[in-house]
Amino acid sequence: MGSPQITENPTIAVDEDEENGISAECKELIHGCRKEKGWRTSFLYEFQGFWCQPKEIDAILSFQKHYLARDSDVILATIPKSGTTWIKSLTFAIMNRNNVPVSDGNHPLLASNPHDLVPFFEYKLYANNQNPNLSILPKPRIFATHIPFGSLSESIKSSDCRIVYVCRNPLDTFISSWHYINQLRRESRPPIPLEEAFDMYCKGVIGYGPFWEHMLGYWKESQERPNKVLFMKYEDMKEDAMSHVKMLANFLGLPFSVEEEKQGLIEEIVKLCSFKKLKDLEVNQNGKSIKNFDNKHLFRKGEVGDWVNYLSPSMVHQLSKIMDEKLGDFGLKFKVCSTVS
Ligand code: A3P
Repeated sequence: MGSPQITENPTIAVDEDEENGISAECKELIHGCRKEKGWRTSFLYEFQGFWCQPKEIDAILSFQKHYLARDSDVILATIPKSGTTWIKSLTFAIMNRNNVPVSDGNHPLLASNPHDLVPFFEYKLYANNQNPNLSILPKPRIFATHIPFGSLSESIKSSDCRIVYVCRNPLDTFISSWHYINQLRRESRPPIPLEEAFDMYCKGVIGYGPFWEHMLGYWKESQERPNKVLFMKYEDMKEDAMSHVKMLANFLGLPFSVEEEKQGLIEEIVKLCSFKKLKDLEVNQNGKSIKNFDNKHLFRKGEVGDWVNYLSPSMVHQLSKIMDEKLGDFGLKFKVCSTVS
């Protein structure tokens, strides 16, 4: 399929601070990009084949120029609202279990939001024209990103660092994105109606989308290089978190010992990182992390199939058809099911 037909929307005014502080290089670049009305910001720009906000593009340019991967690095990749917070907490707990026992009452996950423990390249490390010296960080380093596989830096692709991708059923990802973005919108902006957001999502116009391109980039790589990219599905993780934690630890080269398994460590990690446990923590009720947004919005329902409460049968049909057409031939399928009553 070619690019979606998108009409430009020249009547929308840009909120000034959306472009404030971005580099001259980025400003020039985005003026040559196709643009479309954004979900939360005035515009999304089509940059390197995906849709993005100006400040994100600026940070990605800096990341692409400066980031040097190490073979021991672990990179957690997702499209927004697919389980990023969850995979960050699980990976952090697994990889640090020898430094901080999971049962420790002072475990970092009890006092910090997972986004503060595992930083995003584009929202933290390389945001606001920063170029941090990451070589001083102890190995193994854990980072996260929403950047599509094709736009990761060459050093990631050519190194032996590991990538974990979490993918979620687009029906649920769409509903989760719609809720989240309406929570974060400025007061001066009206909420985005479900139908309008749905049309944009189906055209691929969503941060880091089209969603199908994002998923396929990592999916194909995981098939070609399974030791490099582990592809997990949110729904499967919900169904059997323990076996996924085990699989994740194996992939990361840190398998659980027989002794650890006997002690119930896998179950402890699953509990520590569970939706309910994280949601109820003070830091996640009242703290702020990514871009200074309230953490509480990161924990909404954490269920599979909440879309049944929002999407009409024709919407479900339309999006399922897109999933089938775009992903089916590559063997990427989702159970269209709901555990929500
Ligand atoms: P819902 O909006 O459907 O509830 P991300 O972390 O990528 O922003 O994804 C957010 C989604 O993951 C939200 O989904 C959120 O509730 C859910 N979530 C957050 N923490 C979770 C956890 N520990 N376990 C399972 N789901 C979680």
